Amino acid sequence: MLAIESVSRTYPGGVHALERVSIAVAAGEIVAVVGGSGCGKSTLLRLVCGLDRPSAGRVLLDGGVVTGPHEKIGIVFQEPRLLPWLTVAGNVEFGLDGRPRAERAGRAKVQLARVGLADKASAWPRQLSGGQAQRAAIARALVTRPQVLLLDEPFSALDAFTRIDLQDHLLDLWADLTPTLLLVTHDVDEAIVLADRIVVMKPRPGRVHEEIAIDLPRPRDRQSAAFDFAKRRVLCALDRSLARPGVDREAAAEAGAALWW
Ligand SMILES: Nc1ncnc2c1ncn2[C@@H]1O[C@H](COP(=O)(O)OP(=O)(O)OP(=O)(O)O)[C@@H](O)[C@H]1O
Ligand SMILES: [Mg+2]
Repeated sequence: MLAIESVSRTYPGGVHALERVSIAVAAGEIVAVVGGSGCGKSTLLRLVCGLDRPSAGRVLLDGGVVTGPHEKIGIVFQEPRLLPWLTVAGNVEFGLDGRPRAERAGRAKVQLARVGLADKASAWPRQLSGGQAQRAAIARALVTRPQVLLLDEPFSALDAFTRIDLQDHLLDLWADLTPTLLLVTHDVDEAIVLADRIVVMKPRPGRVHEEIAIDLPRPRDRQSAAFDFAKRRVLCALDRSLARPGVDREAAAEAGAALWW
């Protein structure tokens, strides 16, 4: 169980990025965080994985306070951040630093096969497409078998087809070990395809505005009326969170567009 308890973060210089954010995530749950630009989503993920410390409040994993990078918490960023001087397999093994060489190689091989990159093990990062590089980053995060996987807009730099492909793939990977997933996204479709629950944040300072449970059966049909209904709910919550009058999202939703704002 991951508990974000009344977490605030003020950066040196005075930016009040987060104000008393509390989110409880059950083991194996998938929670998506959406909200306007600058409302503190990336800050929140950095606090959860221990790359930064809250100014107040705390993050607990199974009752223990997270005080720094934690082997049970993995993170994938918007850009893959692969090390260019290591092969793809080397990058995945990197997460297992300190383990025997044979074990590292074996586990990296298995994980690369799981993300469909078995044939790219000895390639260099620059030889990968955007989608392949992001899959390698996901393999690197999963190779340690984290209990919690944080994803900060992991597919937003990819084209629409690759994005949908990787969303489905992520669900398959999740089904393997069912880690807790905390996913930041700007793509409402992505949030609804993946999440059990969507946390809508509002800005200045970043706070939780609303939580919306998505109880659609999986796999979720992006074309269904229930999907559209959920999408309208989330978009309305986002409009309210930005204190913006509702706009007619219906036509766009019917066109099946992935909506960004
Ligand atoms: N290292 C930092 N030092 C000072 N201010 C920061 C720092 N990182 C972020 N901020 C500020 O904190 C606020 C929240 O930023 P954050 O990156 O967490 O937002 P976000 O919700 O992830 O935005 P986006 O959707 O654009 O990625 C912003 O006002 C940002 O300018
Ligand atoms: Mg961000």
